[in-house]
Amino acid sequence: MAKKTATRREFIGKVATALSIVGLAPSLDIAQERQGRQREAAEELAPLTPAEYDRMAKLANNENGWGPSETVMKAMTDALTYASRYRYPDGGIVEAIAAHHKVKLENVMIGAGSGEILKVANSAFLVDRKRVVGVDPSYDSVYRYVTNSKAEAIKIPLLKDYRMDIPGMIRAAKMNYRDIGFIYVCNPNNPTGNIIPKQEIKTLLDSIPSDVTVLIDEAYHHFVTSQDYATSVPYVQEGRLVIVTRTFSKIAALAGMRLGYAIAPKELIDRMRPFAGGSINAIVKHGGVAALKDTAYENKIRQMTIALRDRTTKELSAWGYEVIPSEANFFMVHVGRDVSGVAEEFRKRGVLVGRKFPPMNNWLRISVGTEPEMDRFMVVFKEIFPKGGIKTKPDAGN
Ligand SMILES: Cc1ncc(COP(=O)(O)O)c(C=O)c1O
Repeated sequence: MAKKTATRREFIGKVATALSIVGLAPSLDIAQERQGRQREAAEELAPLTPAEYDRMAKLANNENGWGPSETVMKAMTDALTYASRYRYPDGGIVEAIAAHHKVKLENVMIGAGSGEILKVANSAFLVDRKRVVGVDPSYDSVYRYVTNSKAEAIKIPLLKDYRMDIPGMIRAAKMNYRDIGFIYVCNPNNPTGNIIPKQEIKTLLDSIPSDVTVLIDEAYHHFVTSQDYATSVPYVQEGRLVIVTRTFSKIAALAGMRLGYAIAPKELIDRMRPFAGGSINAIVKHGGVAALKDTAYENKIRQMTIALRDRTTKELSAWGYEVIPSEANFFMVHVGRDVSGVAEEFRKRGVLVGRKFPPMNNWLRISVGTEPEMDRFMVVFKEIFPKGGIKTKPDAGN
């Protein structure tokens, strides 16, 4: 009996070593994930009253501080007339999205935020103990849903320079081929803000078995300026097993209204559709159509966001703190100590900042807000963190 246990242990040890040799931090243990969630819940701050919330500089959730455009507000206000209806004219939102991406209607599925689409993908593809492969840290809703089901996540650590480890994902996909529900790629990545260059996306798709589905989350697509980046929608047009998700929560400033969508081949949409809740409201459908048309406003938001992001990150560097170059409407700054409690320190001074993203425990994520919000953030940052920085060497772990 004792011998049997030792052999089993030896075997597990060997597997773990093999995985770490190929750069995989093997998958989560559900218990471990639960502990993480409990820790996060413990770190959660007391709720704000509406008046307190309204006074805060809101730099915690990567929203758009300027709000929706006038044309979007008008479209939504006009759509209130349908508040009492079920079968109302929906403004042609699916048609508008399909035309925007030059795909067929059958390639579009809308959701109450792209968060709903991620959840639907989990329900559709992570059955029977299937696995999702993604990097860590990344947008962890996907991994959270896994915790609630019997599926598993294989999380590949970021590289030393915080880039996403595409070769590591390819190895994980090949090693777990039969068990993969889908591969999750967040591009740009949340919370780091960096991108996977288009060449690496191509390498990923060309290197994995062709029947493995890849979900590419482009929530922050609109803020990217790098020439090395490209949307992955053309892969859908080619018929590859790729799902691209987008949201109206960021550039279009409709986070509270809940609208997002997937672009995917019909066979994948057909598998996901039965799991969609259909709870998208009449108002945001009209708002979404107007937002797609209002490219002038979109450009304005993009420019203001990038200008404020660059200004703030330069100021932080000049104050002595390392920042990860970002292509999104948020960035991470290395504060030299564990960020537990830091959000509370900011909140007491009227600024909401991001939570901790283990294992990057010494990094604070800041969303780009309006100019007054960023000014306030810098004042508070300088009050909390001394000039010259706190001297610990940043690495991907902390
Ligand atoms: C990478 C990423 N994907 C998806 C979402 C979900 O956004 P929503 O459900 O508002 O569309 C978010 C929200 O912050 C995100 O950061």
